[in-house]
Amino acid sequence: MRKQISPATSVSGALQLPGDKSISHRYAMLAAIAEGPTKLSNYSSGADCHSTLACMRALGVTIENNDGVVCIHGRGLDGLREPAAALDAGNSGSTIRMLSGILAAQPFLTRIGGDESLSRRPMERVMKPLAQMGARIDALENRFPPLTIHGVEPGARLHPIEYTLPVASAQVKSCVLLAGLYADGRTTVHEPVRTRDHTELALREFGADVDVDKLSISVTGRPRLEGRELRVPGDLSSAAFFLVAALIVPESNLTIHGVGLNPTRSALLDFLAEMGAQIKILDVSSAGGELIGDVLIRKSRVQGGVLEKARTAALIDEIPVLAVLGAASEEGLIVRDASELRVKETDRIATIAENFKRMGLTIQLHENGFEVPGRQQFHAAELDSFGDHRIAMAFSIAALAADGPCTIFGADAASVSFPEFFDTLQRVAE
Ligand code: S3P
Repeated sequence: MRKQISPATSVSGALQLPGDKSISHRYAMLAAIAEGPTKLSNYSSGADCHSTLACMRALGVTIENNDGVVCIHGRGLDGLREPAAALDAGNSGSTIRMLSGILAAQPFLTRIGGDESLSRRPMERVMKPLAQMGARIDALENRFPPLTIHGVEPGARLHPIEYTLPVASAQVKSCVLLAGLYADGRTTVHEPVRTRDHTELALREFGADVDVDKLSISVTGRPRLEGRELRVPGDLSSAAFFLVAALIVPESNLTIHGVGLNPTRSALLDFLAEMGAQIKILDVSSAGGELIGDVLIRKSRVQGGVLEKARTAALIDEIPVLAVLGAASEEGLIVRDASELRVKETDRIATIAENFKRMGLTIQLHENGFEVPGRQQFHAAELDSFGDHRIAMAFSIAALAADGPCTIFGADAASVSFPEFFDTLQRVAE
């Protein structure tokens, strides 16, 4: 699908966003292995989170979905059933990596794969710790999906481990903690830098015994998890596109209601504020351990910025749209320590660079990052998502500031995390 985006003079009004993708995956997986029903409101409408639901259904879990309220009838820790066919994680790295932790502990064999992009993404980062726990997993070339997860002998259990993550990855941390639910004893994960902690918070909500000591997280095996009623906060990573739109389009003034403000995610707001963005946070409350609030933003003169180390890890999903902001800023953006961008849904350093070139924008590439000069003129162009949702949305925002209409090829990729993106954009951009 191709979309035409015309330049805008204002991005204004109020909007609400679909539920956070990361939190939706975690709630769905935990609900499935908890006892009794869980009711989730504002569950993500993204295709990725529906891949997770489809996998859980294939594992024998009954799930109803009425008007955005998802009801999951949990089967307890030992209640999942052998699937009749291979599980399909679609485009979703979170689904395959986190679910592998649960599947490795089942007394049956599961195959799980996904689309072409997912089939190129590295899985040895979850295979290694799971093997240490006693799991047997086969993969293409020992690292790519589809995975064949052999499960444990009936009556056997995974071993608890202490594992130091070689790369900062919330997906890998979560995979090990989920497997730890099935282990005899206490499993501990040490992180190199703090990554999003939705799994820790959700585990507690469902009744698991979780301990967090700085960068070390422990979970005790064989807890009794209980179904809950929870609301998923709006997705801050989806909000990022609209925040940047409001910052680069002249007469903008936007309010986003009910956004997730978990401190392990909200580095984005601090970074934007440091660059000079006029942002206000109102009506902050907490539910299910997660913070939620309204974000107000207006067009501002944005200086430049440097992203490196822990901050790069904290903002990894926002870098495509921050690159766009960098080119419109006064002094530009420098991104370092971002080798993880090379193994996302696309090689995002390459796909950002290609769209920059098409818009006549300058970018200097490095193996682990890039530099974007500021005060650049965005030219009308034919752009491409390359099948990557965040590239589709980041460059739709860039198109708002171009000197003529742009076409985005493969725009439908946005539906992986945000199917309502273009309708929402049309509502607030003039
Ligand atoms: C996610 C973690 C991050 C992020 C992804 C979602 C999660 O991936 O990029 O979009 O929900 O845990 P990594 O764990 O690979 O860093």
